[in-house]
Amino acid sequence: MAMSELQQELEQLYQEIMAHDYAYHVKDAPTISDAQYDSLVQRVLAIEAEHPEWIKPESPSQRVGAAPLTMFETVTHAVPMLSLNNGFNDGDIVAFNRRASDRLRAQHLLMAGEEIEYLAELKFDGLAINLRYEKGRLIQGTTRGDGMQGEDVTENIRTIRSIPLMLTGDEIPEVLEVRGEVLMHKADFHKLNEAQEKLGIKPFVNPRNAAAGSLRQLDSKVTRSRHLRFYAYGWGQLESTVALAQTQSGMLERLRDFGFAISPERAVVKGVAGLLDFYQGIEAKRAALPFDIDGIVYKVNRLALQEALGFVSRAPRFALAHKFPAEEMQTLLEGIDIQVGRTGALTPVARLKPVFVGGVTVTNATLHNEDEIRRKDIRIGDTVIVRRAGDVIPEVLAPVLDLRPEDAQPFTMVQACPVCHSSIERLPGEAVWRCTGGLFCRAQRVQSLIHAASRKALDIEGLGDKLAELLVEKEMVKSLADLYRLTAASVASLERMGPKSAQNLMDAIEKSKGVKLANFIYALGIRHVGETTARDLATHFGSITALAQASREELQAVEDVGPAIAESIQHFFAEEHNQQVIHELAELGLNPVYELRSGVAATGTADAASASSPNQAVLGKTFVLTGALSHWTRDEAAELLRQAGAKVTSSVSKKTDYVVAGADAGSKLRRAEELGVTVLDEDALKALLGL
Ligand code: IVH
Repeated sequence: MAMSELQQELEQLYQEIMAHDYAYHVKDAPTISDAQYDSLVQRVLAIEAEHPEWIKPESPSQRVGAAPLTMFETVTHAVPMLSLNNGFNDGDIVAFNRRASDRLRAQHLLMAGEEIEYLAELKFDGLAINLRYEKGRLIQGTTRGDGMQGEDVTENIRTIRSIPLMLTGDEIPEVLEVRGEVLMHKADFHKLNEAQEKLGIKPFVNPRNAAAGSLRQLDSKVTRSRHLRFYAYGWGQLESTVALAQTQSGMLERLRDFGFAISPERAVVKGVAGLLDFYQGIEAKRAALPFDIDGIVYKVNRLALQEALGFVSRAPRFALAHKFPAEEMQTLLEGIDIQVGRTGALTPVARLKPVFVGGVTVTNATLHNEDEIRRKDIRIGDTVIVRRAGDVIPEVLAPVLDLRPEDAQPFTMVQACPVCHSSIERLPGEAVWRCTGGLFCRAQRVQSLIHAASRKALDIEGLGDKLAELLVEKEMVKSLADLYRLTAASVASLERMGPKSAQNLMDAIEKSKGVKLANFIYALGIRHVGETTARDLATHFGSITALAQASREELQAVEDVGPAIAESIQHFFAEEHNQQVIHELAELGLNPVYELRSGVAATGTADAASASSPNQAVLGKTFVLTGALSHWTRDEAAELLRQAGAKVTSSVSKKTDYVVAGADAGSKLRRAEELGVTVLDEDALKALLGL
C-alpha cells in the first residue's frame, strides 16, 4: 500500500529535523532559527497526535523524555569498556613510544628507523558511554560502570540532540557500538549553575559533575533540560560486511559521517616529537576550548598495528592518555583570613595546606564572600577542592563532606576591619562587606599605592607590594602626593634599599610626571573606573579639572558611563581629601592634559573628533582586540586605532564593527563568529590603517 501524503510528509520532517540536529549539534553551524526548528517539531507532534501508529523511534518526539524510572537496569557490555594507561611527562611518552616500537619491530611490522604514526586527540573530561545501534537505529545507551557492566541510560541518552537516533550515510553496519564521552560545555554549565542558584539549589562543582548528575537522572525530562553533548572517539562491537576503515583517523571520519561529533582538535602525527608538539599546542589553548579536557589521547593510527600490540591487563598497549596537570585538587583548609582591598572590600581568603594544582603550588585561594562560603558550606578543617585553571586566580570550589572532621569550624565574618578596626558595612544588594576606614585604613592605603604605581597607571617601576607596604607603614606616604615628596635620602633609609635603588625609584617617580591623562585618571582608583572608562573620560573631558566639574548628565554622555559610574566619579571628586590630593599633585608637577591635535578644542570632544590623524576606514568604528599580535602589543594596536579615530572596547557585542584576532584568540573570537562580526587578522588591520 502506498504511503499517504501525510505519512510522507512526516517521514520527510524526520529527515529534515535530523539534518538540522546534525548541523546544529555536530557541526555547530545551524542553518535555520530556533523558532523555525520548533515549528518543524510542532508539525511532527501534530501529525503524530492524529496517527500515533506512524511514530518511529527516530522521531524527534522520542527525544522528549520518558516516564521516570525507579532504577537503572544493569547491562553487561558486549565488548568490555577498558581504560587507558596514563603518562604525565615527556619521559613517559618516550617510554610508551619505545615499548610500542620495539614490539612492532620484533613482529617485523615496523622497519628499523621508522616512526609510528599516531592519532592524537583530546581527552574529554566527561562520562564514557556506549551507544548500541542495530541496523542503524539507536537501541541502547549504557554507562561504563566497572567496564564489564554498566547501567542502561537509554531514555536519558535519547534526549541528547548530538546523538543520532538513526545513523546517516552509507554502509551502515548491522551492529555498531559507538563509544565516546557525554559532557557539558562550560557555557552551558555556567548557565545551569546560575539557574540553580536562583532556585536556591546547590550549584554543581564542575561541568563533569553536572554532566554526571544530569545523565544519571531517573527522570529523563530533567536530562533533556540540561543540554548535554556527546563526542565519539571509538567503538565496541562492530558487525559489518565491509571494513569501515584501516586507521583510527579513518574510523573517526566514518563516525562523523554516521552523524557523530568527533574531537574538533585532532592530528595524525609521527613519533614522539609529533605527539609532544600536539600536546603543547593544545595545552596553550586549553582554557579557550568550549569544554574541559584533562589531557591528550594518543592512539597508534593503523588498526592492524593496534591489533598486533593488543592489550595488557585492562588497557591497550597501542594507546596512552597524556594527562595535563590537574586543575582541581583536594587539600586541607587550615584557616580563613580576611584581606582588605583597595576599595575596602573584605575578601575571605582560604589558607591552604600547600597543594600542586594547575601547574603551580597554591597556598591561598579566594572564597569570594561570606554568602559563597555559607552556600558552599565550607568550614575550617575541611578537605576542600581547589581549582586553578589557566591564569585565573585559584578558588575553593567545595568541601569534601565525606572527609569532614567533627570539629570543623563554620566561618564567621569579622565584626570590624581586621587592619584598622573601623566599622564595616554591607550595602543592600552587595555581596561584600567593606571597611569604612577609607584612606585611614592602612591596608587600603597600601593597596591604593600599589594600584597607583602599577603599569597601566603611573607606571612607577620598582614600586611593588613590599615597598608600598614599607612606605605606608613608616608613614612616609600617607597620600599619593607624598610619593612626590620623597627624597633619595629618606628612601635609602628603608630596609633593603641601597642608594642605587633609591635613586632608581626617584627617577621612576620623576618620569611618572609625564603620565598620560587616561593613566592618571585610572591611577586615582575611582571605584568602577577601569582602564577603558578612564581612557574614555580622558578623551571626553581633556583635563582633570573638567572631569572634576562635570555634572552627572555630562558624565553619562560618555559612552559606557551609566548612573553607577557617574555617581562614583562625583562622589570621588566631592570628597575634600581627594580634592586636596589632586591639588597638591598639580603643584608637585602632576597635571596631565589630554594631548589633542592642534586646532581641536578640549571641551566635549568625541573620540572620533579627537583623533590625532583620523583615517576614514576606521573613524568611529568599534574594535575589539584579542589574542597575541606579532607586530604590536594589543595596547599599541589600540593606541594606533584610537589615534586614527576608532573606538577600542574590551568585549564583543552586536555594536562591535571589527574583531582583530591574533594567535590563540579564544572566547572573544568565538563570540565574534557567533554574532557574525567581521574578524580581521593583523595584516588586514595594517591594510585598513594604511600601514
Ligand atoms: S579511548 C581502551 N579516547 O578516558 C580505552 N578515551 O581511561 C578506550 N576518554 O573512561 C578509551 N577521551 O571515557 C579514549 N579521546 C578519548 C577519550 C577517552 C576521554 C576517557 C574514556 C575512559 C578514559 C580512559
